[in-house]
Parts: sequence; structure tokens; C-alpha cells
Amino acid sequence: MKKDFILILDFGSQYSHMIARRIRDIGVYTLLYHYNETSIYHVISKKKPKGLILSGGPFSIYEKGSPLISKNIFQLNIPIFGICYGMQLISFLFGGEIKKSKHKEYGKSDLIIDHPNNSLFYGIPDKSIVWMSHFDEVKNIPKEFKVIGHTSSCDIAAFSHINKDIYAVQFHPEVKNTEYGIYMLKNFVFHICKCSSNWKLNNFVKNTIDDIKKRVDKKKVVLGFSGGVDSFVTAYIIHQAIGDSLNCIFVDTGLLLKNEKKKISSLCEKMHFTIKIIDAKNRFLSKLTGIVDPEIKRKVIGKEFLYIFQKESKKIKDVEFFAQGTIYSDVIESSVFSKTSISCSIKSHHNVGGLPTALMKLKLIEPLKELFKDEVRKIGEKLGLPKEILYRHPFPGPGLGIRIIGEINEKKISILKEAEAILLQELKNYDIYYSVNQAFIVLLPVKTVGIKGDKRTYEYAAILRVTNTEDFMTATFSHLSYDFLEKVSNRITNEVDGINRIAYDITSKPPSTIEWE
Ligand code: XMP
Repeated sequence: MKKDFILILDFGSQYSHMIARRIRDIGVYTLLYHYNETSIYHVISKKKPKGLILSGGPFSIYEKGSPLISKNIFQLNIPIFGICYGMQLISFLFGGEIKKSKHKEYGKSDLIIDHPNNSLFYGIPDKSIVWMSHFDEVKNIPKEFKVIGHTSSCDIAAFSHINKDIYAVQFHPEVKNTEYGIYMLKNFVFHICKCSSNWKLNNFVKNTIDDIKKRVDKKKVVLGFSGGVDSFVTAYIIHQAIGDSLNCIFVDTGLLLKNEKKKISSLCEKMHFTIKIIDAKNRFLSKLTGIVDPEIKRKVIGKEFLYIFQKESKKIKDVEFFAQGTIYSDVIESSVFSKTSISCSIKSHHNVGGLPTALMKLKLIEPLKELFKDEVRKIGEKLGLPKEILYRHPFPGPGLGIRIIGEINEKKISILKEAEAILLQELKNYDIYYSVNQAFIVLLPVKTVGIKGDKRTYEYAAILRVTNTEDFMTATFSHLSYDFLEKVSNRITNEVDGINRIAYDITSKPPSTIEWE
């Protein structure tokens, strides 16, 4: 049975994922497509979403090369909701006029509703707080539209078509700071698009287990197991479906955190499935020796993983499937987005986006492919996975290999392992592990002069990187107490032979990235 869904066209806003997640939270399935997807008009007419949302984006509509879409989409008779840049785009396509705002507006504003009976505003008070983030605004609306809301600094904060289901707002209903944002999304999804509520995670687990059972039948599945939350939930679901026909392969690259192997094994034991650990430390280290360039490192590591998975799957009789914990943001990142988004051309994520070509002989199983991270966590919670799995900080596939800047060797790996272990302990001692989203140490290829116990030292400098982020696409450095920073720095420089200086990374993403390489 085809389920009702809302299609979101992404024009590059940092909040586009959030629109998709908020709507799923209210029980309706969403898909996010890049605005520039080839023949988007045909995709939309074929997929038949119940509604279309045009997201915000960082562009000015009159700018050269700003993203546009064909006006044809308005002929599909699908309700449309434009948000921020999406609003300006609708206005532009219908012949309205856009101008630079007098003041760039970021933050809270009071929305005054001019048409309380407008379907978008059912049940919302005449005055409420909304979250603005824009530098352009609509100056004149096109002929067939009417203004339905304003703020003190933005005369046209919301408009709608006089007889079609086309709505637009300058503010961001998907952001929690918009007091009644969720009501507006509900009004659009349920009243205007007439979607039925169909997205329930309980059903998802049951249906997925049934599907996997049928699909795999008596064959075997190999799973590239990383120990992160996505791969734990994937393994757990597949194990529920096919039991020991699942073969989880965990590669010890030698670039893991201290005690990681032990920790992962005991967590798997708790969840009643076993993993096969492949000791590939020497292989990885020898392939990485002498390599300094981050991209080459990533490629070498990716190739080694592939080699091992291939080799291991050949050993299993009747193996027909390869499973991975790909989630929806990975799918988005590695599809059309990868051709246009800067983040993807910056680093090659070796374990993202589908089965590597050399493994193509196996069929792919990606049970979480439709889910966002928070949905994966909700499912994991329902399945009874412990908090330490569900809320583990992510750890990149290339591991410590991209946290040792420049050349990698055994000595540097052991220095970094010790430093990371201290950081982890202190995050837990100070009870902040779960309030930051990713924390680690970066070892620099720079030695500095220091003094330990009256003796001169000449040891590596290291960086403490702690970030807060919702989706890892953007991030800010965490505002930690001096007390914590001092403790971590003192402990690492005193207890780790090889580091005599720590600096705290206070850059956001962008312009930096979270990992240093
Ligand atoms: P960046 O450094 O791009 O990282 O801001 C964003 C998030 O992705 C993680 N990361 C990776 N994860 N394979 C992974 O599984 C990779 O190759 C990889 N590179 C970065 C990073 O740790 C952060 O959470």
C-alpha cells in the first residue's frame, strides 16, 4: 500500500532536515530531494506526494545562479508550502517582487495574523512568536495572492493564493522557537494536504523484520559492523529476523579507541548477538606508513575495509546479502546532494552511501535507510538498547587515522589512545558526555618545548575538539567550563608521555569541519 507523504525540495537551508523530521514526528512520512534533482517535475508527478514544501536557502533570488525551479510544479495541483527562500521563490515565479530587508533579521519576532481563518493558521492565536532568519523579503506579492500575516519589521511575513492551496511564510515553522510552528505544519499536512497519519516507528520495526525474513529466507547476511548506534540497531533488527544467519564483521584497524574491542564485544553479548573481530592492525598500519595527505589516507583505509569485507564474505557459505547501517542522512548526502554540496567534496566518507562496487555481487540490505538519527535512537530505545549505545558519540570509520595529523605510526596511535581515554573519563566524571555531541583529541605533527618535573620536554601539541550539533552538518564548539578544560589539559599533559601542550578548538562548522582531516 502506498503511504501518504510530503516531499520537501531542499534549497540548501540548514533547517531542511528539520522540516522532514518535524513532519515525521507528527506521523507523516517525508522525503527530502535536492531542488536540482534531474527532471524534478517528472519525479514529483510520478511519486505523487500529498504536498510539496519548498525549503529555505542561503540565496538571493536575483543573484546569478540562484536556485530556481520550473513553474510547472504549480500545475500539478499538489498543495505547496514555501518557507523563507521558498516563499521568495513562489513570489518570484508568480511575478512578485523581492527586496533586501532594511535590517537582516535573525531571531524572534511577533507574528500578527491578518486572516485567522486561513487554513494554515487554524487554532493559532492572532499574535505569536516566530523565528526569522533572512536578509531578503517579499516586497510586492503577485496578483493572485493575499497577505495573511506580518511582523513589525516585515510587512509580508505570510501569504497564500486566493483560490489554490499555495502558502508561504518568511519565518521558520520547523524551528522550535516558532511557538506555533508545529501547528502550522500540522495544518498544512493534515488539513490542507489531507495526509493520513501513517508513520509509526513500532510498525516500522515489525514490518522491517518481516521483510528481511522473507527476503533473506535461508541465505546468509554479512554486516559491516562499526559499533556505532546505527550498526547496533541494524544488527539487532536483522538478528531478530534471521538469528545466526547474520554474520557481523568488526574490523580492528588498530585505529580504534582504547578498550573499544572489549567494550563492543561485551555490548554485543548483552544484546545476544556475536561479532567476528578481524585483527587487521598490521595491515592498516603498513598501508598507511608514509602517507600524509588526508584524502589519500581516507582512500587507503576505505580500500582496506573493502578488501577485508570481501575476503570475509567469501568464507561464508550461502552468503547472498551485505548489510550496513546506512541512515537517511547518508542517503541524502550520497545522492544528488553529493554532486552539489560542498561538504561531500571536502572529504570522502568511505563508509557512506551504498555497497562498494567490488562487493556488488552481494545484494544490499539497509534497514534504516529511511530513518533519521533520532528515529534510529527511538527505535533502539524501544528495542531496549542501553543508553551507552544509543547516545555514543559518533566515531568515524577511518578512526584515529584522521585524528593524527600527518603521518601515522604506532607511537602516535598509542599516545592518542591514552589522551582520548582521559578525555572520555573526564566527560563522564563531569557528567557532560551526553550534553555534548562529539568530543575527541587531535594529535598535531608539531612538537613544542615544555617542562615536566623540572625537566625540559619536547613533545607533541594536541587539540581538544568538543562540539554541539543537531545533525553534524553544522556544529558549534561546546562552551565548556574552565574547570573542565583545565582538568583535561592537566591530566593529559601529566599522564600521557608524548603530549606537553593542549589547545581548545573554538571554531564552528562551517567554516571548519568537525574532524581535522
Ligand atoms: P566532518 O569532519 O565532515 O564530520 O565535519 C561530520 C561527522 O562525520 C564523521 N565523519 C565520518 N564518519 N566515516 C564516518 O563514518 C568517515 O569517513 C567520516 N569522516 C567524518 C565525523 O566524525 C562527524 O561526526
